[in-house]
Amino acid sequence: METVLSGIRSTGNLHLGNYFGALRNFTRMQHENKCFFFIADYHSLTTHPDPKILHGNVKGVLTEYLAAGIDPEISTIYIQSDVTEVCELYLLLNMHAYLGELSKTVSFKEKARKHQDNVNAGLLTYPTLMAADILLHNADKVPVGKDQEQHLEMTRKFARRFNNLYGVEYFKEPVAYNFGQELIKIPGLDGSGKMGKSEGNCIYLDEDPKSIEKKVKRALTDEGPKAPNSEKPEYIENLFTILKVVSTEDVVQHFEDKWNTCEIRYGDLKKQLAEDIIKVTTPIRERIIDIKNDDAYLHKVATEGAEKARESARKTINEVREIMGIHKF
Ligand code: TYM
Repeated sequence: METVLSGIRSTGNLHLGNYFGALRNFTRMQHENKCFFFIADYHSLTTHPDPKILHGNVKGVLTEYLAAGIDPEISTIYIQSDVTEVCELYLLLNMHAYLGELSKTVSFKEKARKHQDNVNAGLLTYPTLMAADILLHNADKVPVGKDQEQHLEMTRKFARRFNNLYGVEYFKEPVAYNFGQELIKIPGLDGSGKMGKSEGNCIYLDEDPKSIEKKVKRALTDEGPKAPNSEKPEYIENLFTILKVVSTEDVVQHFEDKWNTCEIRYGDLKKQLAEDIIKVTTPIRERIIDIKNDDAYLHKVATEGAEKARESARKTINEVREIMGIHKF
C-alpha cells in the first residue's frame, strides 16, 4: 500500500482551487492508500502570524476536511504543530538546503515581493518545512495543485541529496499527484491568475448560493467571439476551465460548440456555471454547518490523528538521527 500525504495552510476558508487542486483528491485516494492529511499551521505563520485568528482558522480547515469527506476512521488527520517531530526534521534538512536554491524558488520570490515588510527565514525555508512534512512519513504520492509542483521537485532533491550524502536508500522521492493527469490550476473569476485567498477572487466551499451566483455573474466577459473557431481570451478560457471541473462533458461540449459558432450567450454560460458550482459546494456547506460547532468531535479527530501521526514521525526521526550520527548515550 502506498503512502499519501498532503496539507493545506490554515489561512482562511477553503475555496474551489483548494478543493479541485487538492481536497477532492484526498477523499478519492483515501480508500486505496495509507493517508496522512494535515493542517499546515506552522506554514501559515510565514504570512499570517496572528494569534487571535490562528486557532479559528485551524478549526475551520479541520471542519472543511471532514465536511468534504475525509474519513478519520481510515485517514490520519492531524495538525502540523501537534507533531513537533517535523521541526526536528526541518532543522536537519535545513543543514543540507542551500541559500541559492531556496532564494530562487518561485513561491519565495512572489511572497517576498508581496510581503516586503516581512521577508522572514520561514518564507525562505518554506520548501524545507514542506519536504519535512512529506519525508516525515516517507510519502509516495502528494496530491496538490499546480502551484506546488516546484516544492515537490525540491522535496525530491532534498531526499536524493540526503540519501547520497549518507550513502543510504532511506527517503523515497515523492511525486505531486493528480491521477496521472496534469496538476490542476483553478483560475480566479477576475480574468487572470489563479484562484487564491490573497488574490480576493475566490468562491468558497462554505459560500451561500446567492453569493456564488453574484460572483459568477460579475465575472469578466466581452461582446463575444469575433469569428468562428477563434481562440478564447484568457478571461473566457478561465470560465471554461472552471466549467470543465464542475460540469459534465456534454455541458462543456455544448458551450464549446456555441463558442465556435459565435452563438454563445454569456448569461447562459454563467447561469450553468453557477448552478454546477453550487451543486458541488452545497453538500459540503451543509456538512460544515453540522460539524463546525461539534467541538467534542473535532477534538477527538485532532487528538487521535496526532497520536497516529506522531507514532509514524517518531520512527522516522529515530532512524534519521541514527543515519546522521546523532546517537543516544
Ligand atoms: P495552500 O494552503 O496554499 O494550498 C493548499 C492546496 O490547494 C491547492 N491550490 C490550488 N489548486 C488549484 N488551483 C488553485 N487556484 C489553487 N489554490 C490552491 C495547492 O496547490 C495546495 O495543494 N504548501 C502547501 C501546504 C503544504 C503541503 C505540505 C502540501 C505544507 N506542507 C506538504 C503538501 C505536502 C500549500 O500550498 O498550501
